[in-house]
Amino acid sequence: MTLDLRPFTGADAALLKTWVDTPAALRLWCGDAFRWPLDEEQLAAYLAETRTPARGSWTAWDGRGRAVGHVSLQLDLPARSGRLGRVLIAPHARRRGLAVQMLRQVLEAAAADMTLRRVELGVYSDNVAAVRLYERLGFVADDGPGAQEQPRVVRMTRDLQR
Ligand SMILES: CC(C)(COP(=O)(O)OP(=O)(O)OC[C@H]1O[C@@H](n2cnc3c(N)ncnc32)[C@H](O)[C@@H]1OP(=O)(O)O)[C@@H](O)C(=O)NCCC(=O)NCCS
Repeated sequence: MTLDLRPFTGADAALLKTWVDTPAALRLWCGDAFRWPLDEEQLAAYLAETRTPARGSWTAWDGRGRAVGHVSLQLDLPARSGRLGRVLIAPHARRRGLAVQMLRQVLEAAAADMTLRRVELGVYSDNVAAVRLYERLGFVADDGPGAQEQPRVVRMTRDLQR
């Protein structure tokens, strides 16, 4: 299936509320970046940030024109680095390789269009699906202090320029 990534819009914001439908799902998705319940005020602020050079966010659409995913990249353009986050595939569309496809496109754009050299992220160590996804895409865990704590936030990085 082909995926088309388009900039996140106000019309897409309601999708996030339907895909993230419990406090636990919200925490897994974005840690404490948003508070439960996800509401218009928080989504409007997120959208406004997305329209600045500090962040890019996208909705992924499948070949049938259905929205199936979301992803965001917080940018530090002077440092040529980015922080990947808000990675989400609609619950009904999971385990079909869509997250891999979506993130490959973002990483390609980050390297080619934005000329980033490095992308990092944070993921809960017990989020098996996400850790597997990032490993599959070449992210490497940075074993920092507190490696024995469970669950903990694992920092992962990937160099983009070869
Ligand atoms: C994490 C998430 C984005 C993965 O999306 P997806 O489209 O289902 O992932 P893919 O189908 O592309 O699979 C990617 C890899 O993860 C593995 N994977 C996906 N779901 C898994 C699960 N529930 N358990 C174990 N492995 C899983 C796949 O097997 C694949 O690895 P493989 O190629 O070695 O087989 C999705 O589960 C999600 O939206 N979760 C809720 C939000 C979240 O946790 N976001 C990340 C925050 S850091």
